[in-house]
Amino acid sequence: MIDALGNPQSLLVLGGSSDIATATARRLVQARTRRVVLAGRPSTRLDAAAQLLRGAGADLVEVVPFDAEVTDTHGAVVDQAFAGGDIDVVLLAFGVLGEQAAQERDPSLAVRTAMVNYVGAVSVGLHVGARLRSQGHGVLVVLSSVAGERARRTNFVYGSTKAGLDAFSQGLGDALQGSGARVLVVRPGFVRTKMTAGRKEAPMTTTAEAVAVAITEGIRSGRHTVWVPARLQQVMALMRHLPRGLFRRLAR
Ligand SMILES: NC(=O)c1ccc[n+]([C@@H]2O[C@H](COP(=O)([O-])OP(=O)(O)OC[C@H]3O[C@@H](n4cnc5c(N)ncnc54)[C@H](OP(=O)(O)O)[C@@H]3O)[C@@H](O)[C@H]2O)c1
Repeated sequence: MIDALGNPQSLLVLGGSSDIATATARRLVQARTRRVVLAGRPSTRLDAAAQLLRGAGADLVEVVPFDAEVTDTHGAVVDQAFAGGDIDVVLLAFGVLGEQAAQERDPSLAVRTAMVNYVGAVSVGLHVGARLRSQGHGVLVVLSSVAGERARRTNFVYGSTKAGLDAFSQGLGDALQGSGARVLVVRPGFVRTKMTAGRKEAPMTTTAEAVAVAITEGIRSGRHTVWVPARLQQVMALMRHLPRGLFRRLAR
């Protein structure tokens, strides 16, 4: 259970090798989290994340194979993760950015981005939601993005998948109201991680550590949405309402 100070004891990460997830898990483990389940595609990166959390003080770190695109396995993955007991926080952190130009040339690449970021998240998100509802507590933290607030010419495939994911997550949060479980939607801007390595940084670029701080504070304070950095909320409120022509010129 999440204790009186808002610290969870158990954590499931979907997308266990994500840089943002690793920073968040390490922070939670350093506070109070003792049991961590890392679900992800088997890799040395996933093993390294597990090792790092053991080193940070977790009592038990389990690694469970999980592929967002293979939706017919998601029920079993969630069952396996919850087999060791209740889980206080589930962090949905998997995602792919994709190359916009390549995806326009080859729509099958865009379909893959949509499969991972949206279809995979809907599938596993509903399995997790049902579990949290039946245990009567817990937080599903979903890594959305400011890219979903208004699609840009330069990354509208990714942005549209995050718009769908964000709407899905808000709806799931509403559906869970009264059950004791809840959803926290996280909307970071540009974060320096392996996903964005080599790309031109955007204004207000932030770090995985800053996102981890915002997530842990969001869990503690019971918020339903956090922006990272926080001032992006005002910026995006303005961007959403800019006339289309002006937005096109600015959002290149
Ligand atoms: N970095 C940013 O600027 C930024 C901004 C806003 C939102 N976000 C979102 O934050 C989340 C974490 O991103 P990050 O920055 O931490 O990037 P990251 O380090 O590249 O993490 C992405 C994760 O997604 C996993 N993944 C990709 N395809 C998968 C699949 N088919 N099945 C299971 N896992 C899969 C990767 O696993 P593998 O190791 O197996 O590839 C990796 O663990 C993503 O949803 C991203 O869209 C990122």
